[in-house]
Amino acid sequence: MLPARYCARTVNVSWSTLPPAQTDADTVALGLFEGEGAPAAPDGVGSLLDSGEARTAPKSLALTHADGKRWLLVGLGKREDFGAEDARVAAALARERAKEISCERLCWVSPANDPAVAGALVEGTLLADYSFETFKSSDGEGDGKGKRLAQLIICGEGEHSSAVKQAAVVGGAVNEARDLQNRPANDLTPTALGEHAKALGREIAGLSVEVEGREGLAQRKMGAFAAVAQGSEQEPALITLRYEPASATGPVLGIVGKAVTFDSGGISLKPGAKMAEMKFDMSGGAAAISAISAIARLGLPVRIVGVVGATENLPSGRSVKPGDIVVAANGKTIEVNNTDAEGRLVLADCLCHAVSLGAERIVDLATLTGAVIVALGSTYAGVMANDEELAAEVDAAGQRSGEIVWRLPLHSEYDELIKGKYADLDNAPEARKAGTIVGGAFLSNFVGETPWAHLDIAGSAWDLGRAYVGKGASGYGVRLLVELARSYCA
Ligand code: BES
Ligand code: MN
Ligand code: ZN
Repeated sequence: MLPARYCARTVNVSWSTLPPAQTDADTVALGLFEGEGAPAAPDGVGSLLDSGEARTAPKSLALTHADGKRWLLVGLGKREDFGAEDARVAAALARERAKEISCERLCWVSPANDPAVAGALVEGTLLADYSFETFKSSDGEGDGKGKRLAQLIICGEGEHSSAVKQAAVVGGAVNEARDLQNRPANDLTPTALGEHAKALGREIAGLSVEVEGREGLAQRKMGAFAAVAQGSEQEPALITLRYEPASATGPVLGIVGKAVTFDSGGISLKPGAKMAEMKFDMSGGAAAISAISAIARLGLPVRIVGVVGATENLPSGRSVKPGDIVVAANGKTIEVNNTDAEGRLVLADCLCHAVSLGAERIVDLATLTGAVIVALGSTYAGVMANDEELAAEVDAAGQRSGEIVWRLPLHSEYDELIKGKYADLDNAPEARKAGTIVGGAFLSNFVGETPWAHLDIAGSAWDLGRAYVGKGASGYGVRLLVELARSYCA
């Protein structure tokens, strides 16, 4: 039986210029900077700082009661070192502590008159508040984990209600992506992902969504994507999303995502250890869909075309076999020497599709290679690009969103590595060299001259280990993509 409702919940989020004591919050979170003394707060709060019970060091937390509210004092370190990412982390720590004391209405006093900080407090709180309970018999409230957060108020000087509202939409979209990621592969089939996208299209004004199956892949001559899908009983889904408000003038941004809902490796079967994690191999597609839904909900004046390739990768009597040669939509032939290098096959056709739909810049997201985890861990996603300007825009969006990326090179010598013996390209060269870059070099064959950036998110899509997203799905890429889209708004 499939549960009808997933875990991303709506917290009522607002901005207020009232003093925190006058809001109807049950708990107030107040940041402390080094060397600045006690902030404006009721008696008893400041004395906690004097006694040393509350400290200014990052990650320190102290709790007291005053004026009928609980006051949570959060160390923030030096003001000059404090930025939006520190606000996300502080908000997550405060949310964890607030949960233990069953806080339902939290007010954060924004430690800076800065829309990025106010928004980051919202994101950090909402992301830390997330948990995936769909398949648990109890909802989590009764088992000692504290109450659900119902309301979040950010208060302070200035006028940051728009930043706060927008951050609530983005935080909600990240959690929506996490719900998709966390759903097991027997629930989130390619068809179910397509249904989710179609439901968004019905709900959100200006967003249109189309889903095609095996027949669509055949008609479009997507022989690479179809080859991956042929081993599974599940119908694949080619999900195309369009958001083109009349007010938009900038370039058409193509957002492409890998959504392999389960990657067993196919005939080149993966070892059993941790294979269950391969339900997360649809994380790029989840980020693409959720980011586009956020962009459309925010009504950003930017034109987007999204392409998500959803399929399972399974061994069967119909599966693509090592050595098979397939033809991608742009006519390039590919030797499938390892059926576990399936993501690049799916993306090859999805990238061609994005180009043919008029994308003028393309960003793809994919859990493409284990090698990127070796290279960068979970701290940075790897990015490869054929265009300096787009690479710089992606890097800047990464820094603003806290979803940081590290550039890896493309070079003609890498193109030599992926030359096929019997076909144009080899999907998995024998030489175990530069695995992540080789994936990027392969994909570059399917974008023509279109400026393109490829994000390998295999290390960051789950178990990120940040304070606001620790274990499980991270929704990585949603915040970066929204920031990138913002940079194309006039
Ligand atoms: N989905 C995997 C990559 C992956 C591995 C993501 C571990 C997250 C954690 C991808 O389809 C894959 O299997 N890649 C192969 C490519 C190789 C066969 C050229 C890999 O990285 O080993
Ligand atoms: Mn694989
Ligand atoms: Zn994969």
